[in-house]
Amino acid sequence: MKKETEKKGIGVCKAAVWLAMPFLAVGAAFGELADVESRVEEVLSRLTFEQKVGQLWQCLGKDMVEPASGDMSGETLKESFLADIRAGRYGSVIGKRGVANYNRIQRAAMEGVGIPLLIGNDMIHSVRTCYPIPLALACSWDEDLWRRIGEAMAAESLLEGCNWTFTPMIDVAFDARWGRIAEGGGSEPLVTGLMGAALVRGLQGADMADGLHIAACAKHYVGYGASLGGRDYNAVEMADSTLRNVYLPPFKMAVEAGVATVMPAFHSFNGVPCSASKYLLRDILRGELGFDGMTISDWAAVKELVNHGVAADGADAAESAINAGMDMEMVTPCYAENLARLVKSGRVSMKTVDDAVRNVLRVKFRLGLFDHPEIDEAKVSAVVDPAENRALAREAARKSTVLLKNEGGVLPLGKGAKVALVGDIAANAWQMMGCWNTKDMSNFENATLLDGLKADGIDVEYSKAYTLRGRVDTEELEKALAKADIVVAAFGDYWENSGEGNSSAKIELPGEQLKVAQTIKARGRKLVAVVFGGRPMAFPEIAELADAIVMAWNPGGSGGWGVADVITGIAEPYGRLTVDMPSASGVCPQFYSRTTTGRPATFSRKHPFGRRFTSCYNDASLKAVYPFGYGLTYSTVAYSNEAVRVEGDTAVFSVDVSNTGSRDASELVQVYVHADKASIARPRRELKGFRRVALSPGETAHVEIRVAVKSLGFFCDGGRFELPESFTAWIAPDSESGRPLQFAAK
Ligand code: GLC
Repeated sequence: MKKETEKKGIGVCKAAVWLAMPFLAVGAAFGELADVESRVEEVLSRLTFEQKVGQLWQCLGKDMVEPASGDMSGETLKESFLADIRAGRYGSVIGKRGVANYNRIQRAAMEGVGIPLLIGNDMIHSVRTCYPIPLALACSWDEDLWRRIGEAMAAESLLEGCNWTFTPMIDVAFDARWGRIAEGGGSEPLVTGLMGAALVRGLQGADMADGLHIAACAKHYVGYGASLGGRDYNAVEMADSTLRNVYLPPFKMAVEAGVATVMPAFHSFNGVPCSASKYLLRDILRGELGFDGMTISDWAAVKELVNHGVAADGADAAESAINAGMDMEMVTPCYAENLARLVKSGRVSMKTVDDAVRNVLRVKFRLGLFDHPEIDEAKVSAVVDPAENRALAREAARKSTVLLKNEGGVLPLGKGAKVALVGDIAANAWQMMGCWNTKDMSNFENATLLDGLKADGIDVEYSKAYTLRGRVDTEELEKALAKADIVVAAFGDYWENSGEGNSSAKIELPGEQLKVAQTIKARGRKLVAVVFGGRPMAFPEIAELADAIVMAWNPGGSGGWGVADVITGIAEPYGRLTVDMPSASGVCPQFYSRTTTGRPATFSRKHPFGRRFTSCYNDASLKAVYPFGYGLTYSTVAYSNEAVRVEGDTAVFSVDVSNTGSRDASELVQVYVHADKASIARPRRELKGFRRVALSPGETAHVEIRVAVKSLGFFCDGGRFELPESFTAWIAPDSESGRPLQFAAK
């Protein structure tokens, strides 16, 4: 049965409605905006200098409570701390202290200085419920899912006593050695930016002041993912054009989504630490992107200007940071201890201090804190459904899982299959977590992959047999192999080895995992490798040996269920990589969108690593083991009739995709372009659009992806924008396949 279905963009009638909306909205917004600004000025006018400085300090929550206090919500706040709050000594507190303490703090603030606090924490992918790490979530390419997770995290954060979260992390990352690649959207500005903007919309809601949403924070501004050597906190050197074409776009999208706050990064950028860079914080962030929220330093990043060697002491650091446009200092007291002297001496103007305070107050007004400083626990609890959030976490785990290989149809596992499950983390629910899990998650399902396979009806017998970083118990492994035809082996690395401060020089699978794979195959068993971890890892040999490979990342508190659902076919494979899986540590940074060279690497049977005198390695392949955008379904999908046409300022990429298999398929059609000629060398391919299409067996869909022609352009150094005339395009299922199509952009 052949069914032609037309899947286009928004129709004309809808466009008319959307056109009218902004005019209606502007009127209302203008009124609110004027109201906020006048209220900001009113508060600012009555503050003492000390109270102004207080607004620019985020204090470390641990100083708040009596040491012998009980659990978070039962903690007793120190009276001395509450006295400081009344006096307006802090504008913010970092840490979760529960609703009761949150409300006590806000009551004290309103009784005293009359300014409520921002109470922030790192709810990155978990609060009470733990979702997959952001790098996994990115692989869903699903804006609606990201937004829904943002909404759910906002309400749970309020119930934990926080009105601000330091997320989304939208650092484009090419280098798998960098541990923080786990926290972002991967190597593509477009996907990273869409995920960041969707999370902002979910966290902040349509009305950030509705008492159900919180302030978001786009971080780490900017270029952190380019830390030299993939080494955390290391220097970043890049051309202005690279900044504008690769690392800035996600922040532009977050600002356009209305992100309330931005966190400058730790590193130095072309020699100037981000925390002290007027170019980045004032000229670009506020001048070009139009950001009018507040900036919060990273942890102690103001004080660390001394370590960078650009400040002699805390006073120098405070002067550099606040003059560059850093509004609030996280935990260190450089502002608190030095601004009075700096203003008196003229090194910092009163206007600079006032402007920073305005930015802080503006966010507090936009968050509605002056109108409702306390959390209405009943109102928030009414919108939080733990079972619903666990189901959302399970959906997210399913959609983040990527099927990388499936030879001989070994997957999905049939109900009758006798399966051996091996590897320590297959029975360890805590290892489904990720680098920013919150230790005290109350809505954590404790679901292991073993639990998931059993729940999905698989006849599975578990034996540990090996640990990821240890030796294999060959006797136990042999016993396991003797009883089963199919072996599901949990590979990868523990989540503790990714995330902040976890850069790795080696990204190969540790321990004796290859030996395990070799043993399984030597015994003639089918091998299903399920790879867990917070970064792309290098496992080319296992990729060769395994019959099936599933990239499960750190799938979160319901990850055991979600990953098993994909392996058993209860859920169709949905995920597509947003990073390249490199062949070895030494090829990092490995990314599909690398710039062309005068001698692009060429590969052949004779030159698997690349022909000599081309840009390649003589001992490892520059080809990704699995490239950006890649992921399989349990069916087969064919592309035909690829075409490009330009309609005015829109390029339309069209293709027919056919499900030629026997199962439903969720296909992600991707559009890549390369500028055939430009004034600077450009990426060999760049993602410019994508569309997901559900195909039942035998169905053919005509897909059209509309891309603004302007988005095909790029910036040269100094900000000059250039739109080349002709391009090569690929409409394909991943970043390395597809037929080239020439087209003229204008
Ligand atoms: C950390 C991280 C940042 C986090 C902040 C507060 O060092 O760099 O992402 O939000 O400190 O915990």
